[in-house]
Amino acid sequence: AATDYSPAVVVGTGYGAAVTALRLGAAGVPTLMLEMGQLWNTPGEDGKIFSDMLSPDRRSSWFKNRTEAPLASFLWLDLANRDVDPYAGVLDRVHFGDMSVYVGRGVGGGSLVNGAMAVTPKRWYFEEILPEVDADEMYGRYYPLANSMLGVNNIDPDWFETCDSYQFARVSRKHAQKTGLKTTFVPSVYDFDYMRREEAGEVPRSALASEVIYGNNHGKRSLDKSYLAAALGTGNVTIQTLTEVRDIAQQQDGTYTLTVRQIDAEGNVLGVRQLGTKYLFLGAGSLGSTELLVRARDTGKLPDLGEDVGQGWGTNGNVMLGRANHVWDPVGAVESGMPALGIDAWEDPVNPVFAEIAPVPAGLETWASLYLAITKNPERGWFKYDPGADKAVLQWDVAQGQPSIDAAKSLFDRINSANGTIYRYDLFGDTRAFENRFTYHPLGGLVLGKATDLYGRVKGYRNLYVTDGSLIPGSTGVNPFVTITALAERNIARVLAEDF
Ligand code: FDA
Repeated sequence: AATDYSPAVVVGTGYGAAVTALRLGAAGVPTLMLEMGQLWNTPGEDGKIFSDMLSPDRRSSWFKNRTEAPLASFLWLDLANRDVDPYAGVLDRVHFGDMSVYVGRGVGGGSLVNGAMAVTPKRWYFEEILPEVDADEMYGRYYPLANSMLGVNNIDPDWFETCDSYQFARVSRKHAQKTGLKTTFVPSVYDFDYMRREEAGEVPRSALASEVIYGNNHGKRSLDKSYLAAALGTGNVTIQTLTEVRDIAQQQDGTYTLTVRQIDAEGNVLGVRQLGTKYLFLGAGSLGSTELLVRARDTGKLPDLGEDVGQGWGTNGNVMLGRANHVWDPVGAVESGMPALGIDAWEDPVNPVFAEIAPVPAGLETWASLYLAITKNPERGWFKYDPGADKAVLQWDVAQGQPSIDAAKSLFDRINSANGTIYRYDLFGDTRAFENRFTYHPLGGLVLGKATDLYGRVKGYRNLYVTDGSLIPGSTGVNPFVTITALAERNIARVLAEDF
């Protein structure tokens, strides 16, 4: 029997979860959030909450012996990674054969580690990926709401032209323009005014001190400062950390019983207990929520879950690459950790690409231009339950990543040829120019309208909901968190009106 009960439980504390908890709390519903990672609010011995990218320590990584940075090497040397003690750190890289997935761990989920790029997709593309969702309502109401709640802001274009920390982006823009391509500013949840004061030497540096994927000590409006702070402010929401949901079962009366595992930051299991709830919202991210339902179905705990559970997973077409610039084209020693510009070739009818101009925050001149390209890769993976390991294992093979490379290559071959430049072959551990063996943007697994109804209600079960990136069918054409947030706002508004 369940030892504890909460009327509503939200699993996870990322974007979908945070929106849901705020709206439940504001409606007066006592809500418990369960998060497997830590609350990041306590400085370590060095006075900082997070460690930086140049000298990462155990705070950087979720139970690893060595950090696993996306740029595996520089001049083929493993300069970025460090040995660390296993610890409940903030960034995880989850490995599945040919694909590994980066995710944030902690109160705020991906918002703690991401690049803060807050991009609303082009409406025509949103209508293509989610045709059954009312785009008028999304673009008239929920995208503006998400942008304002998240604290999205835009860079001052005059400052962009003159500051040292975006020289790298201006160099890439020049090369794109010479190719006849269009660039666009990327809105952000990093406070650009704070960044400006960093450059002026008025405040402690974060974006300008190589901080990004292992957390930002300043400047970033992560969810703990926006939605989650507001959720806690309702007085109806509580968060339990270092608490992982392992199993979901349903009782005869329709309520749910969760099996949760409590750990300490060193990974010792402190206990396993049962928790009851009437309304269960899954916001554990594309990997986390999908695994919970695949496991529940295939172990017979929620036997009425259908075949669509675990299907329709994509990488958002992510592929990373670097270009070698001419010696007379330096990118500057200080690169802001937060991208602010992208090459927008999404209208290309054959090979749509949205390429973020990404920093190499190495603290020295690299003569390299780095990009994270988002492409329209039609391949989808799926999750298979492995009973021995009690895990949902992503099924994705290396050939499925090829369309991402083909699209990016068609664009960057043009840029190289217009500028007389070449690719960098030293960045990804071997001699490849394109890295498509990881994604920052896992999407799908519990797709809206397939595994759930059109508002995230799981098919086959009452009062069981999906709120996060697993609803999105594998692609958003831009960085996904604004869309995840806006969709979660739309869904919880309907659920609160109809199901409570
Ligand atoms: P999200 O992954 O944010 O949160 C899930 C939470 O649930 C996590 O805190 C996790 O610990 C917890 N959890 C999982 N399983 C659990 C369980 N069983 N029990 C309890 N808790 C559990 N996007 C963007 O739009 N702009 C950008 O600039 C970037 N940049 C970027 C950089 C990096 C390094 C990464 C890793 C990711 C990005 N992204 C991004 C992607 C973006 O961060 C991502 O799409 C969202 O965080 C996904 O939001 P969700 O709500 O789906 O879950």
